[in-house]
Amino acid sequence: MDPLQQYEDFANAALTALSAATDTAAVEAARIEFLGKKSGRIKTLQDLLGKATAEQRPALGAKFNEVRQRVTAALEARQQELAKPKASLTGIDISLPGEQIRLGRRHPLTQTMDEFRDIIGRMGFTVAYGPELEDEWHNFEALNIPADHPARDPLENFYLATAQAVSGGPVLLRSQTSTVQIRVMEKSKPPIRIVSLGRVYRPDTIDATHSCMFHQMEGLMIGSDVTMAQLKTTLRLFATTYLGRDVTIRFRPSFFPFTEPSVEVDMSWGQGWMEIGGAGMVDPNVLRAVGFDPEEVSGFAFGFGIERFCMRRHNIKDIRRFTENDVRFLSQF
Ligand code: DAH
Repeated sequence: MDPLQQYEDFANAALTALSAATDTAAVEAARIEFLGKKSGRIKTLQDLLGKATAEQRPALGAKFNEVRQRVTAALEARQQELAKPKASLTGIDISLPGEQIRLGRRHPLTQTMDEFRDIIGRMGFTVAYGPELEDEWHNFEALNIPADHPARDPLENFYLATAQAVSGGPVLLRSQTSTVQIRVMEKSKPPIRIVSLGRVYRPDTIDATHSCMFHQMEGLMIGSDVTMAQLKTTLRLFATTYLGRDVTIRFRPSFFPFTEPSVEVDMSWGQGWMEIGGAGMVDPNVLRAVGFDPEEVSGFAFGFGIERFCMRRHNIKDIRRFTENDVRFLSQF
């Protein structure tokens, strides 16, 4: 066959293979097949050139160079094309500016709890956690709440029938974070200074200020000489740090089985007062239940509703907003 024709055939075959190659691996395969240094088909063309007579050589040499350049150029062009983003393949023009990404934010209650931990942490309280599924010992008995206390009415609590069958004893969704007081005291020795933040559950009728699930911050301080004055100072400092100096708190005498004396705590709100939780000096029966000697140690405890603080701070009128998952509400914080 005419060597010039063989050169032309080589070029045509190489260009066809390159334009059929749709990815870089296929282009590389074509490069090796045609231009490969060791066994590429271009070697045959070189051999032809070697065998050519002196008269043939100038024309053949020129053709060889021309063919090699053409195939090399086509190879490079194909390589570049495939390296470019495939706008036409996906229909997306990635050179256009993208849609603006809207960043999410922390839920207002999460923000409140983070700030609570921060403020109370500066007063030396560390954070403890407890389970949301509780037994009656931690939710009631160790807290000096006897079996006939109205708070233990099954209709006032979420008892779990199946969990009960597994554990042997009654199990309920905790109705208060005071459970964590017991769990901490069972495991540690005084002095103790902890808070615990988390969810509690009660079958309350849901309205603007009540929910069947809400959050509490429990506090506990145990030492050799803890006083009610320290309790009041801690709560006043805490409330004014979170809500501002114009907030006043007041104590009203009250009753809780796990504190003696007990108080209810209110904060000023507009012309009136809003209850924010309970507090008191830890009842000797509670100290005994966890193996502490009431003659040796004393302590204070408090429990706050976290939603109420957040509502006052941000002027939120309805507690249901927190759980409706409405972005128009959530994006304001
Ligand atoms: N556990 C109480 C409740 O959920 C609140 C409370 C009152 C907690 C007095 C305390 C306390 O630690 O001392 O209603």
